[in-house]
This record gives sequence, C-alpha cells and structure tokens, in this order.
Amino acid sequence: MKVIVTKNYEELSRLAAGHVADLLKSKPDAVLGLPTGSTPLGMYKELIAMNQKGELSFKDVTTFNLDEYEGLDRNDSNSYYRFMLDNFFSHIDIDRNKTNIPDAMSSDIPKECLKYEKKIEKAGGIDLMILGLGNNGHIGFNEPAEYFAGITHRVKLHEDTIKANSRFFSSIDQVPKFAVTMGIKSIMHCKSIMLIANGKAKAEAIKKTIEGPITPQVPASVLQLHRYFTIIVDEEAASLLTKH
Ligand code: F6R
Repeated sequence: MKVIVTKNYEELSRLAAGHVADLLKSKPDAVLGLPTGSTPLGMYKELIAMNQKGELSFKDVTTFNLDEYEGLDRNDSNSYYRFMLDNFFSHIDIDRNKTNIPDAMSSDIPKECLKYEKKIEKAGGIDLMILGLGNNGHIGFNEPAEYFAGITHRVKLHEDTIKANSRFFSSIDQVPKFAVTMGIKSIMHCKSIMLIANGKAKAEAIKKTIEGPITPQVPASVLQLHRYFTIIVDEEAASLLTKH
C-alpha cells in the first residue's frame, strides 16, 4: 500500500490524472475502472485537458464503471451514464463502444451482473481501478455489512449514502433505494487500484481504511490486502492518520 498526501484537491487531481496518464503511455489499450461522484471531477478535468492538448489518447482504452442507480433511465440527469458522458466521455476521444456501465434498468439484474463480469473478463481484466470513498467507508456501492460482497450485484443503499447523495437530487425521496455495483471480489481482482479522497468529511473513513482492522464494516479496509494499492488523499482527509 502506498499512501500519498497532497496539499490540496488540485494537487490530488493532478497526481491522480498523472497516474492514469503514466499507465496509458505504457499501455494505450488499458482497461480502466471508473467512479462517479465529486472526488474524481478534478482528475477527469485534468485528463480532458491532456487529451485536448493532444498529450494523451483514450482511443484504444476500455472502461468499466463501478456502479449505477437502479431504475434511472440513461438520459436521467442523475444517472451515472449521464454523469460519465457529461463529465468525461463526451470531452475525450474515447470510442463509446468501449465504455461500459452496468445496465440497472434491465428486467433481469442478476443476469446483467453476470454479463458485466464476463465482459470485464473478456476485456482481459481491469488494469487500474479508480475508487472514491464513501463517508461510511463504502467503495462502489459496497456498503458496511456483515460480510464482503462478491461479484457485481444488486444492493440496497444505506441511509447514510442516500443522505450524502441527495445533494444531487431535487429531494431525498428522489434518490433511488437500490443500485448495481461491482462487488469486493470484482474490485480485488483488478490488477491495480487507486483510491482518491479529499476533505475533512472523509478523514474518519480514510483512517479506518488505512490503519483500522480489515472488516466488512469498513468495506475499503480490505484494500489493505491488495498488492498494488495506491491512496491519494489531501491533507484534510489525511488529518487523522497517525502512521503516515
Ligand atoms: C461512485 C461510487 C461511490 C463514490 C463515493 C464517494 O461511482 O462508487 O463509492 O466514490 O460515494 O463519493 P464522492 O466522491 O461524491 O464523495
């Protein structure tokens, strides 16, 4: 595990984008795992800028998003499909046929989840999984639980997560109660993982992720066991760490 503490969010975003760029320079057809949310927005902006300056190409890259809300149409402004288009894909030279997001509108979600896992396998596995972190320690939508969830699956969202994500919706009642997410097993199978987190609200979850015991009550804590795991946090998110 490698922990990098940055001065602020801008530096975090630059470093995270640099990490992705380094991978794409050595492997232009890399497979990336991608998150939505506020944290990666700065990194996506940096990557868009590199792409538009002609320094970096995504034309051979394949992507798999971590999760999607159940029951939101792709055109819904809160769907993660729309989020990725608006904040990343429509600004870069990626081949849209190589971008993948779980289809949480499917009438057969378990079948869709298996299909998603098979597609990841067929693409050769994920070279770099980029993760944000929930205030409650969730990764993807793998919420604190009694056991570590396996592969891509349907999940009931925690009240904490519904509350945290309600900032994007017109009211808390509009936030879907279920989602489809890659599981802990899907994430741990990725060849390398980079987790990014910023701000005071993440400090407790970061401390538990890095220095706490490995427990499904803090899903991100399992990442301590991954061989190629990098965490990039700003000073606020790192403020409760004692060993770094
Ligand atoms: C989003 C995702 C979530 C977020 C997490 C942090 O695809 O998988 O785990 O990464 O909820 O969200 P932000 O970055 O908005 O604080």
